[in-house]
Amino acid sequence: MAPFVYLLLLVSSLAPGYAQIQSGDQAFISLLISQKGLDFVKDLLVNKAISSMVPLELSNIEKTAKIPVVGDVHMVLSNITIYEINVVSSYIKPGETGISIIASGTTCNLSMNWRYSYSKWIIEISDSGTASVQVAGMEIRLVLDLEDQEGSLKLVLKDCGCFVKDISINLDGGASWLYQGIVNAFEGKIGSAVENGISKKLTEGISKLDSFLCNLPKEILVDDNASLNVTFVNDPLLSNSSIGFEINGLFIARNVAVPDYLYRHENSKFSVFCTNSSKMLGISLDEAVFNSASVLYYDAKFMHWIVDKIPDQSLLNTTGWRFIIPQLYKKYPDHDMNLNVSLSSPPIVKISDHKADASIFADLVIDVVEEDVVIPVACISLAIRCSGTVKIIGNNLAGAVRADDFAMSLKWSNIGNLQMYLIQPIVWTVIQTVFLPYANTHLGKGFPLPVIHGFTVQDAEITLSNSRVTVCSDVSYAESHELAFLPF
Ligand SMILES: *[C@@H]1O[C@H](CO)[C@@H](O)[C@H](O)[C@H]1NC(C)=O
Ligand SMILES: *[C@@H]1O[C@H](CO)[C@@H](O)[C@H](O)[C@H]1NC(C)=O
Ligand SMILES: *[C@@H]1O[C@H](CO)[C@@H](O)[C@H](O)[C@H]1NC(C)=O
Ligand SMILES: *[C@@H]1O[C@H](CO)[C@@H](O)[C@H](O)[C@H]1NC(C)=O
Ligand SMILES: *[C@@H]1O[C@H](CO)[C@@H](O)[C@H](O)[C@H]1NC(C)=O
Ligand SMILES: *[C@@H]1O[C@H](CO)[C@@H](O)[C@H](O)[C@H]1NC(C)=O
Ligand SMILES: *[C@@H]1O[C@H](CO)[C@@H](O)[C@H](O)[C@H]1NC(C)=O
Ligand SMILES: *[C@@H]1O[C@H](CO)[C@@H](O)[C@H](O)[C@H]1NC(C)=O
Repeated sequence: MAPFVYLLLLVSSLAPGYAQIQSGDQAFISLLISQKGLDFVKDLLVNKAISSMVPLELSNIEKTAKIPVVGDVHMVLSNITIYEINVVSSYIKPGETGISIIASGTTCNLSMNWRYSYSKWIIEISDSGTASVQVAGMEIRLVLDLEDQEGSLKLVLKDCGCFVKDISINLDGGASWLYQGIVNAFEGKIGSAVENGISKKLTEGISKLDSFLCNLPKEILVDDNASLNVTFVNDPLLSNSSIGFEINGLFIARNVAVPDYLYRHENSKFSVFCTNSSKMLGISLDEAVFNSASVLYYDAKFMHWIVDKIPDQSLLNTTGWRFIIPQLYKKYPDHDMNLNVSLSSPPIVKISDHKADASIFADLVIDVVEEDVVIPVACISLAIRCSGTVKIIGNNLAGAVRADDFAMSLKWSNIGNLQMYLIQPIVWTVIQTVFLPYANTHLGKGFPLPVIHGFTVQDAEITLSNSRVTVCSDVSYAESHELAFLPF
């Protein structure tokens, strides 16, 4: 059986027939990362950045300084290593000019080797030892911008700065003149070495993060036959407390040829509206997303279905229909039967306030099987109205439908007129016991929401409003899941 009713997805009551227009570069799924979501991501990034930044080796520093009494001393600091960085406070702030990330009150600890030499008359005097350096009150500032580049996200580093305010140096061993000499001669140089080292590492990290974002897949697989087009459309929208993304969001065929369709879509403004503003993420899906799935599976001819097993198997034997369609039994006594159901148009999904509906139009052909030959005897047109519920399973948006009512009419018959009121209960039973459970096993799996690998939707709340399904949720991140893209 083909995944026939996969597409009943969610559901209402429009006339049969579907809009056929081209899809252009419209967005049917919008995502909004709230300030809380940005804070969450920022903490992940900052922690990951720091732990992969240390140990950070800086290049050697050499200097010749004139020390009172001693004279010209050549001093070298080598093996300068930042081995610990502590970020005391950090924040992320989107704004029209970009996303600022600021870490202030940052401290770092360095270890290094020192060595000096000088000549007194003709004797060369030298000594060496180790030193530890504490950098306090460092501020790190990044300004990033996000752009849409041919459907991918481009992360642009607009500004990157690291400013050291205060340095304290401790020597292990050495004379006190040396201590003072090093402090005087090197304080500034160590400070700028730290500033440059960290800035360089951050710039590298941002460029890796950029290529990670650029290489985000443009399709998310849904099953063997369909994927979700997650191509970015338009530049991300930066407000002072959120970042919004728009993606195409329609189902596209993987192995089957499907004509281009466009879905009825009032050019609604970018909007993800989460009533609970303390959620990290909002994802808003236009009903066109569901209708694109509907059209895809319909066109791929998966919505055809031969029913040859039902709970009451006697109904697939002309004997069982003896009193319902006497002429059928008379013509084909004791014959096996099957029901050939095919949708006559893609199911139409309609989302309205607190409600998801689907209208399904199908032809049900009654077949008699005579020695392996299938003989169609009559065809009944069905219009089924379903209502649906939507839920989140893992990162999938899944659903379930139930039939509210249906209407049927005889389309054609080779066995004369049929008593529709007698057939109606049987068809209703088939809908309830075969068709809906089958649909619901497929709908129950759902399709993946566009969420980056490693993140999991949590405590989701779903709102149905005019033509939109909005999922507002928090996300968690699997620690075991390395943020492999962060090289820092
Ligand atoms: C996916 O969406 C983009 C942006 O709307 C569009 O340009 C592209 O043609 C779509 N891909 C397919 C296979 O439909
Ligand atoms: C360089 O510093 C690291 C860590 O501080 C230390 O383990 C290593 O032994 C040092 N190397 C030399 C040659 O002093
Ligand atoms: C690093 O430096 C801070 C002061 O800036 C100090 O409190 C901390 O103990 C140092 N950590 C190590 C491991 O030396
Ligand atoms: C995918 O399409 C094939 C036919 O090309 C069909 O047999 C299969 O059931 C479909 N799978 C799903 C998950 O729809
Ligand atoms: C964000 O901007 C709006 C106006 O555009 C303003 O009312 C609001 O106070 C701002 N919020 C913050 C946190 O700056
Ligand atoms: C909003 O979401 C937060 C966290 O997800 C939850 O703790 C809180 O109870 C929610 N508030 C309402 C009014 O639903
Ligand atoms: C049809 O049903 C009758 C009565 O239940 C049974 O005797 C007969 O074998 C069945 N015919 C077929 C082809 O299964
Ligand atoms: C099922 O019925 C449709 C017409 O509704 C027909 O095109 C198709 O060939 C039939 N399939 C089988 C296996 O009889």
